[in-house]
Amino acid sequence: MTVILGLETSCDETACAIVKDGRQVLASKLHSQTEIHKQYGGVVPEIAARYHLESVNTVIEEAVESSGLSLQEIDAVACTQGPGLIGTLLVGLSAAKALSWVLRKPLLAVDHLYAHICANYIDSDLEPPFISLLVSGGHTQLVFVRDYDNWEVLGQTLDDAAGEAYDKVARLLELGYPGGPQIDRAAQNGNAAAFKFPEGAVKNFDFSFSGLKTAVLRTVEKLDEPLPVADLAASFQDAVNRVLFKKTIRAATELNIAKIVLAGGVAANKDLRKRFEAVRAVESSRGEHEETQIGARFSVYMPDLKYCTDNAAMVAAAAYFAGIEQTLSCTAYSRQP
Ligand code: KG4
Ligand code: ZN
Repeated sequence: MTVILGLETSCDETACAIVKDGRQVLASKLHSQTEIHKQYGGVVPEIAARYHLESVNTVIEEAVESSGLSLQEIDAVACTQGPGLIGTLLVGLSAAKALSWVLRKPLLAVDHLYAHICANYIDSDLEPPFISLLVSGGHTQLVFVRDYDNWEVLGQTLDDAAGEAYDKVARLLELGYPGGPQIDRAAQNGNAAAFKFPEGAVKNFDFSFSGLKTAVLRTVEKLDEPLPVADLAASFQDAVNRVLFKKTIRAATELNIAKIVLAGGVAANKDLRKRFEAVRAVESSRGEHEETQIGARFSVYMPDLKYCTDNAAMVAAAAYFAGIEQTLSCTAYSRQP
């Protein structure tokens, strides 16, 4: 049994979790700064770093207490090494270093993107190989995960990330911050066919969302007040999710991999989850998945909503699966073939 304490401070959530064997969450605590950054319409890095500093010790204490374990029962300490805001990462890394030094336990620094994918190992039986659609506020990638420590990025966005597009369009529609969940909510009462927005004609497994963002802006400029916000949100969401879904299915089909894994904040989007649920292989009465037929049905994994957006359980899980022997110098995500 291996118990890892994970810390996440890459952006605006100060989080600590304690995870057993990479899959069982014993405790997961999070101090969100959303309310603080709301007034600025986005995350202010310097303010974020200061709040992490104020919260980090408390969140560690809360997680340890809630786990029912003592600090001495922790086998390793993990933290996010990047990508993220440099000042906020430094707070988590310093706290993790201090903890690992005091406890004389290994320190594992993991990549934030790899951690988002590893959120899918929590409470699940997922094993590689699989195709992962990683959609966060800063990144959009299609990743072929061959093994726990072996993967390849098949394609990525050439400009805005999917989450970034959600946030920018939400700001344009004056829906507030953070934008993704607001668009998700507004779109539920809208007509996705009301406006025809482009998918972004990019080849292979790459994406582009900046043209779509501009198309929404041009449409809004031509419309009279009050704006049909729900229809605009639904039509924009449809354009983003359509291309995310299509390229993921194409990657799985071309690579002959019948397992699809969603990851990152945008994986919390209701419409996106619904699209992938529609191609999920039906479970048989014996609890097994029906034989999956490439191009039609897939084993589909998506994290619980609380593990889609930033959290520390995914960091502890990533450290476990990256290999505990990779102490001190672990750079999980850069260990590509
Ligand atoms: O993974 P994440 O928490 O942080 C990064 O690593 O970037 O992702 C945050 C992003 C934000 O852009 C947010 O608007 C988006 O995920 N997001 C959503 C939803 N919930 C969060 N986008 C669409 N629908 C949602 N329900
Ligand atoms: Zn993230």
